[in-house]
Amino acid sequence: MPFRESIQRLVEKMKTCEEWLELRRDLREPIPDRTLPDALQMRWAEKDDLFAINALQGFVKETDFMEAALRRGDRCLLLESENRIQAFAWVTFTDVRLATWYTLRLAPGESYLVYIFVHPAFAGRGIGSTLLAALMAAVRDGGGIHMISGMYSNWRVSLGMHTKMGFRVHRRLTQCRLMGIFPTPPKVA
Ligand SMILES: CC(C)(COP(=O)(O)OP(=O)(O)OC[C@H]1O[C@@H](n2cnc3c(N)ncnc32)[C@H](O)[C@@H]1OP(=O)(O)O)[C@@H](O)C(=O)NCCC(=O)NCCS
Repeated sequence: MPFRESIQRLVEKMKTCEEWLELRRDLREPIPDRTLPDALQMRWAEKDDLFAINALQGFVKETDFMEAALRRGDRCLLLESENRIQAFAWVTFTDVRLATWYTLRLAPGESYLVYIFVHPAFAGRGIGSTLLAALMAAVRDGGGIHMISGMYSNWRVSLGMHTKMGFRVHRRLTQCRLMGIFPTPPKVA
């Protein structure tokens, strides 16, 4: 086998790939009006909520970074019961760096759902869908036209929730890593 071909085979063997789905929701299409259980109250997050929100995510970001995002215009809708945050949905209106090689550029009227989370104690009861519907309606009322969201194709629950709420797969990107570490540029399928 020629040397080049053997190297290519070796690289293929060392590669692990995941499929990233980019979904879009046209906010001009009807958004269901859903009601929350009485135990939950909805409000926009403020600076003082960021520590609790960060903790729910497993401290993936610095709160300074989140505070700066709120100042730039990001919004976070949350649900609480007995003064404890049980769910939140974070949306941004500025470009999002999704991976080393890939920044999602947002056009005017586009927003990106950075993260949505429902505490496991409240999961599977329609709370995520209700929160997402409320966020989409608020973004639409503020002039938004499309909401974009992204997830790995094996995130079954999230994909089910997004599909139920009218999101459709817009693009599929394959992201590979060499030896499980080094990312290669994503390919659009
Ligand atoms: C994804 C998440 C927000 C969904 O919230 P939720 O309140 O449990 O969702 P809902 O009860 O509104 O369910 C909406 C849909 O999601 C899917 N779903 C919910 N729970 C599911 C489960 N256990 N198994 C399979 N599908 C499920 C179904 O399609 C469901 O629609 P249906 O009720 O008509 O069957 C929640 O599971 C979560 O916080 N997960 C961890 C964080 C995460 O993955 N966030 C998404 C990042 S993109």
